[in-house]
Amino acid sequence: METQRDGFASSVGAFTATVASAVGLGNIWKFPYLAGVNGGAAFVLTYLLAVALVGLPILVAEHAIGRKMRQDAVASYARVVPKEGFWAVIGYAGIVAAFFIMAFYSDVAGWVFSYIPKSLIAAIRGTAPLESKAFISLSSGTWEPLLWQAGVVVFISIIVLAGVSKGIERATKLTMLILLGLLILCDIRALTLPGAFKGVQFLFEPDFSKLSGAVILSALGLAFFKLSLGMGTMTTYGSYMPHTVRLVPNASRVALADTLVSILAGLAIFPAVFAFGFEPASGPSLLFISIPAVFSKMPLGNYFTVLFFLLSALAATGAMISLIEVPVAWLSGKMNLKRPTAVLITATGILVLGLPATLSLGPWADVKLFNMGFFDLLDYIQQNLLLPLGGLAIALVAGWRLPKAEFLRELETAEPNKPWYIPVLYTFIKFIAPALIILVFLNGFGVFGK
Ligand code: TRP
Repeated sequence: METQRDGFASSVGAFTATVASAVGLGNIWKFPYLAGVNGGAAFVLTYLLAVALVGLPILVAEHAIGRKMRQDAVASYARVVPKEGFWAVIGYAGIVAAFFIMAFYSDVAGWVFSYIPKSLIAAIRGTAPLESKAFISLSSGTWEPLLWQAGVVVFISIIVLAGVSKGIERATKLTMLILLGLLILCDIRALTLPGAFKGVQFLFEPDFSKLSGAVILSALGLAFFKLSLGMGTMTTYGSYMPHTVRLVPNASRVALADTLVSILAGLAIFPAVFAFGFEPASGPSLLFISIPAVFSKMPLGNYFTVLFFLLSALAATGAMISLIEVPVAWLSGKMNLKRPTAVLITATGILVLGLPATLSLGPWADVKLFNMGFFDLLDYIQQNLLLPLGGLAIALVAGWRLPKAEFLRELETAEPNKPWYIPVLYTFIKFIAPALIILVFLNGFGVFGK
């Protein structure tokens, strides 16, 4: 039934749509803050290895399974191996993960959105740039973060409902290029600040004593989060891909582009952190403290801050659309609900989980489960459990349950002659990626001792 399904029109479209899902708050918020908390370069290096050795193979596996099945993620995994319908659990776990991610992602997106008017007012009034005080009062408040979060969820719901996500996708192509330009501008300014080099050292000179099982697991989880892996998003995207797409080169370019954006964000943030004497391990607030400070050292800096957060909001929007599409597609397809009902249920679910997540950074800071606030707990479960386990299951299906020839056929489409990288990648999907996930996982939970 290929003709009845919507899809990406060209291989360029397949590339940009995949990048639009991957690039988001993960690059400019999560990557720098985790690098900061986990001691810098050793974490960055581990993350790069995780992307290359595990992330890329799983990305290819998801695209291949999606394109082979041409269905939503739950249906794809339910039918990909005949008589083994239980693999549908990958899709169901993905739906749970989408809610967990959206609950805290929408809170952070709310901060980003609120920084647009806040920095605009500062720019127009000509007052000082936003300081860490402003961020703390925002993120640890009650009504202010909740209202921004609710606003973001309503905004995304309207986009998904109106079906204008295609238009948004087209728009994000341009805005992501501008965001890239702005990041480079920010890099140049940050790198020329006095004392900036310490930040570069922090990012690139590894001190391996900082690595622990938990840190390695977090780097692996970030690779999944960054590339939108392990929960069916990329399987769904694969199902939209035309047969002109060469899956391995396409996925490699996506991984490379996404990683580049993260590194550029790190190079904008850490030199500034050291130049201004901020704390690299300051956690989720890092982006919101350092970016306004860097831009304040430029002519019209406050206006650049406005633009930066505006474009970040758009990048976050692209990522959130791909996230909420997962439950919405399942509710409207499998459960036979009307699309508006599906969107309403999804949005409500996100807000119900999102409320305690947001309040856990402020008035409910003392409520702990497993020693974590609710925001951190949801983030921890999706990043360190759901996504890596989902990825492991996907690698097992692709490498061990599907006949090799059937799977390789997807990787070989549109390839003129059999390129060397296909058998290499297959080895990674079958052996190396699953072995690494299992090892990192056991090590992360201290099975091999501390
Ligand atoms: N990759 C996005 C980011 O870095 C977040 C994201 C979008 C995501 N879709 C996903 C993460 C699916 C995991 C799974 O901001």
